[in-house]
Amino acid sequence: MSISSFPPTLKLSAVPFRVVFALSCLSLLVAFGAGVAPAVAQDTAAGEKVFKRCAACHSLEAGKNKVGPSLAGLFGREAGRAEGFRYSKAMAAADFVWTPQALAAFVAVPKQFVPGTRMPFPGLKDVGQRDALIAYLRTTAANP
Ligand code: HEC
Repeated sequence: MSISSFPPTLKLSAVPFRVVFALSCLSLLVAFGAGVAPAVAQDTAAGEKVFKRCAACHSLEAGKNKVGPSLAGLFGREAGRAEGFRYSKAMAAADFVWTPQALAAFVAVPKQFVPGTRMPFPGLKDVGQRDALIAYLRTTAANP
């Protein structure tokens, strides 16, 4: 459609802006649609790698505690409640529910988020690694 076919009452100066706006929305949509799915897949794969550092002490199998408690069904579970695991006093007394946000804060600096925890893990400083770890855990038994 050419500009001259627009009704003459329409301000001409508005047309290119609309066209540019529409085009940029369109290209954003295309970029979004094409970009987001692989980004999530990449995150998940990267997160699986990060989880190897947790897997030394944590399983994703229900009821299978190692040095640390099983993380099966973690999201939505109250802190310090994995069956058959002996927690530190601090974790046993912690009064919050594990959400992706809580987990991100915990793994960043465990001893800051739950002072007195005996999880012997210094923390994941890299926000990208934390995000990837959580993206991965959301695809596993940790996310019931
Ligand atoms: C060297 C062993 C070890 C490593 C590595 C480790 N943890 Fe832990 N984790 C523990 C122990 C022990 C506890 C129990 C802490 C307590 O009772 O204070 C724990 C507790 C937790 C809890 C609380 C669970 C609950 O039932 O409330 C979460 C969540 C957790 N760890 C996640 C992780 C993640 C994610 C990683 C990897 C980034 C990780 N841990 C790495 C040993 C470990």
